[in-house]
Amino acid sequence: MNVQVDFNLLPFNTFKLNSVARYFVELTSKAELAELTKFSKDKKLPIRILGGGSNLILPEKIEAIVVKNVLMGTRVLMETSDTVLISCASGMNWHQFVMSTIANGHFGLENLALIPGTVGGAPIQNIGAYGIEVNRFITQVHGYDFETGSTKTLTTNECQFDYRHSIFKTPAYKNFFITSVDFQLLKKANPVVTYAELAHAFSGKTATAGLVAEKVIEVRQKKLPDVAVIPNVGSFFKNPLVTAQQVDQLKKSTPDLVSYPQPDGRFKLAAGQLIDKLGFKGHKQGSVGMYEKQALVMVNLGNGRREDVVALVERVQQACLSVYGVSLEVEPIFW
Ligand code: EPU
Repeated sequence: MNVQVDFNLLPFNTFKLNSVARYFVELTSKAELAELTKFSKDKKLPIRILGGGSNLILPEKIEAIVVKNVLMGTRVLMETSDTVLISCASGMNWHQFVMSTIANGHFGLENLALIPGTVGGAPIQNIGAYGIEVNRFITQVHGYDFETGSTKTLTTNECQFDYRHSIFKTPAYKNFFITSVDFQLLKKANPVVTYAELAHAFSGKTATAGLVAEKVIEVRQKKLPDVAVIPNVGSFFKNPLVTAQQVDQLKKSTPDLVSYPQPDGRFKLAAGQLIDKLGFKGHKQGSVGMYEKQALVMVNLGNGRREDVVALVERVQQACLSVYGVSLEVEPIFW
């Protein structure tokens, strides 16, 4: 196990914040997990797990042992005539995994192409895009608890998946290291093109998994800033859920309000539209701003500072609450 001291995580977080970890370890094999538990007990410091760093806002200093997950590999566990069960190590790049499944004739994840981050990060916030959430394909999540030093497997139900949420975001799982995720994929593609942009692109045309992935990549590249060019962590706020009564009320003053009916009778609003209407699209404040093409995405304008992130979050939240009466919840995880 190679331990580095006072290590700057700048290259390992897509918001490109300067953040110095007391200790930093790259975990390449599951055999090192027990060694890490011991190291953590010896140093009396907690362990923090870093995947792709694509949904994280970091502090300037981290008094912990930061573990970068680089566990690699995929394996077919079981096949039937219609489905395939694939186990994927948590450190694999998500987009590369998605594209490899399509190339191998295993379908379902095509709408989730080009999402930054790792396979292990996918269940944590139940990544979703263009009409699909990943929990639909996850059968089991395997991991290791640094606190107890034991392994554990959770079924889909036990993961308590919800919109951009799972049990892995709760304090009880803060020491849980996801080692691999099992996905049940389809051998015959069943493309989901209900999302407006996909429905429009495939109207009157046959959608294959490969073509859907291509279109999703094109739409994302058009709307969302490339993390390699403009540092960001994707959507900064969750789309808020409101009652039907609130939607009716809001539509009186905002007739073009976007709202999506939910199975429980509530409606999901587009936080990006609200932030846009509040005048924050392209707004710059300190070292950060809201992206000029998608108001839901906060961007680091260079030398971004956490205080500036927090100040802009508060300003957007206050404006949204006072103008629309709607609370916005942040989407990335703040360490
Ligand atoms: N809109 C505006 N102005 C903006 C941004 C959006 O008016 O500046 C409007 C759009 O015109 C559209 C609606 O808001 O009518 C929704 O916008 P979009 O289709 O871009 O999707 P979103 O709700 O902003 C969500 C996810 C994205 C995901 C897309 C596609 C959340 C928090 N975000 O964004 O996920 O890619 O749908 O499914 O649910 C992420 O989680 O990091 C992420 C990028």
